[in-house]
Amino acid sequence: MLYEVYPKYDINFVQGDGCYVIDDQGQRYLDCYGGHAVISLGHNHPNYIAAVKDQIEQLGFYSNSVNMPLQEQLAERVNQVAGIKDYQLFMCNSGAEANENALKLASHYTERKKILAFGKGFHGRMTACCSATDNPKIHTELNRQIDTKLVALNDKHATEEELKTKEYAAVIIEPIQGIGGMREAEDSFLRDLQSYCKASGTFLIMDEVQSGFGRSGDFFAYQHSGIRPDIITSAKGMGNGFPVGAVWVNPDHKPQKGILGSTFGGNQLACRAALAVVDTIDADHLLEHVRQLGLWLYRELETLDDVQKVTGRGLMLGIHFDFPIKALREHMLFEEKVFLGSSSDPNVIRFLPPLTIKKEQLQLAVEAMKRALNTVKIGIA
Ligand SMILES: Cc1ncc(COP(=O)(O)O)c(C=O)c1O
Repeated sequence: MLYEVYPKYDINFVQGDGCYVIDDQGQRYLDCYGGHAVISLGHNHPNYIAAVKDQIEQLGFYSNSVNMPLQEQLAERVNQVAGIKDYQLFMCNSGAEANENALKLASHYTERKKILAFGKGFHGRMTACCSATDNPKIHTELNRQIDTKLVALNDKHATEEELKTKEYAAVIIEPIQGIGGMREAEDSFLRDLQSYCKASGTFLIMDEVQSGFGRSGDFFAYQHSGIRPDIITSAKGMGNGFPVGAVWVNPDHKPQKGILGSTFGGNQLACRAALAVVDTIDADHLLEHVRQLGLWLYRELETLDDVQKVTGRGLMLGIHFDFPIKALREHMLFEEKVFLGSSSDPNVIRFLPPLTIKKEQLQLAVEAMKRALNTVKIGIA
């Protein structure tokens, strides 16, 4: 039996087909959730399948005890396609692991231990990153030992006052809070945050686990603000479903042998999966596609009855209602066969479709949402 920790829907997906997933009854669902924002290229994308198949036939795994040319290739490709000159890549296996390593590096370089994070942020369920996550229900005595302070997102004054103390090793921030309900850090806030960090010798860590690899329409969402953080973390969409996480370290910070490590991190299969993602983002001009489609979807969603506001960018959008979305989400899933995401805000539904989704498919989702709103409202009234 399983050690049950996940709230689940009673559905068994057995097949993927582009932006659709199919259950064991043959029912097709339009996937506007991507299994927690993971599916970037869509299910069974030919480039992805070809890359992973080819690699497993050559060599499925060898560890970091030998040269890893595929990691070097991946670092170069992302530097080029994202336009993040000379950032150094360390590979691991998940978002929490990437953030845990990033926080450790910040502590290593600054020789400090305090962490500053933001209200409603989510950074994973391990130790240091869990302490920076605004959800007391997942905290334990272990992570409460970490000296973490939370301030409100976009509160410049509170952030500056904390950092002035010069006690902090790191500030960790999502440029667009995913689980928190698609709340954006303002560009001017990110620019000031970078200045406060530089003035106080604090590391600025951009958690791009959900927003990175093209999801916002920029390769990394923070790039909208024009800053250059000390560390960027990525995972989720980076591998289109293959478990892979990464820490991207600013070239100002020189590596020390042994400070980080991972047996599985950066294995050949993970590299090929991530290379397929970045090459396809580049070749198919997916950033432009996401930007255009995201703007269109934003406007469509804004006009829906009962929508209070839409937040986020690109294909990372939150629809805010003045009622809990649980029944609406379930209606969309079970009656309309459109899978959408929830968030820690009970009134926000998340749109996180594959970056390759077509306008016609999103149109279907919007029409379904209109029908669902009419039906669900009758139930709520
Ligand atoms: C912004 C952000 N950071 C970190 C994580 C943790 O990633 P993982 O579940 O791969 O550990 C998540 C997961 O949802 C996330 O959204």
